[in-house]
Amino acid sequence: MKSLKERILDLKKEKNVVILAHYYQEADIQDIADYVGDSLGLSQEAAKTDADIILFAGVHFMAETAKILNPTKKVILPDLKAGCSLAESCPPEAFKKFTEAHPDHIVITYVNCSAEIKALSDIVCTSSNAVKIVESVPKDTPIIFAPDKNLGRYIINKTGRDMLLWDGSCVVHEAFSLDKLIELYKQHPDSKIIAHPESETHILETASYIGSTSGMIDFVKTNPGTKFIVATEAGILHKMQQEVPDKILIPAPAKENNTCACSECGYMKMNTLQKVYDCLLNETPEITVPEHIRKKALIPIERMLELSK
Ligand code: 13P
Ligand code: SF4
Repeated sequence: MKSLKERILDLKKEKNVVILAHYYQEADIQDIADYVGDSLGLSQEAAKTDADIILFAGVHFMAETAKILNPTKKVILPDLKAGCSLAESCPPEAFKKFTEAHPDHIVITYVNCSAEIKALSDIVCTSSNAVKIVESVPKDTPIIFAPDKNLGRYIINKTGRDMLLWDGSCVVHEAFSLDKLIELYKQHPDSKIIAHPESETHILETASYIGSTSGMIDFVKTNPGTKFIVATEAGILHKMQQEVPDKILIPAPAKENNTCACSECGYMKMNTLQKVYDCLLNETPEITVPEHIRKKALIPIERMLELSK
């Protein structure tokens, strides 16, 4: 009897499927993926694939972005309930009113939002290109940035731009405890703290490096340091450790009452290897986006991809 992984790989080949996985997916899923990356890398892969089916091992907004870029391909997601607290914090009706109240503002949205929000946007960005995208807007043009207020504040600090921020945040990156992080750092004074910009300002202020998941992996690979405290979702440690087998990686501690000592994204972890297999076999759940929304949402995504070349 073949293992679950072998059966997945057989089905993948038979149906000409590409499996795109985010770094926060469980290790077994990352291991069978064709590509593992951050949100920008995953969008770029989705834009250039010639597979017939895209299986997105990530959360809903990521699979939706792949569908917006590939209307004629089938895009499947192992668990349709794999959402995102940031995307949920920005309901389209309320956001539409917000943008209409500031008609002179350019609307830049973080890719962690629904297709409806993207359709109301001028440019999309990810954590790896957000500063560049904001800096591409002429200095005298006012900007609305949504939905992540923490990433927004980080960009304001980096660029000096005064942006109007939507009040959204990521539950996973707001779960880090500053007190525990300082305590941990005191135990490892030879370490470097690295953080994802969705984290709160007081966490970012402790960090030697701030960047996207891919950026964080590149940093530990190229930095001469040998010990890192990693403030992002714990799933990243799998690929990161493979890249730097001789370095010590310590997950940043979460506040009390969290399900683990680190911080995990319950949405990302809804996908399992069994669900990946079922999804490949049945070609469901499938992602659909109404054509009138898809066409509008495609424009700001294409602008982002163009600006990220
Ligand atoms: P990255 O694009 O940095 O991988 O971030 C995605 C995400 O959801 C972070 O919470
Ligand atoms: Fe959304 Fe946060 Fe999970 Fe990323 S880690 S998918 S931003 S809830």
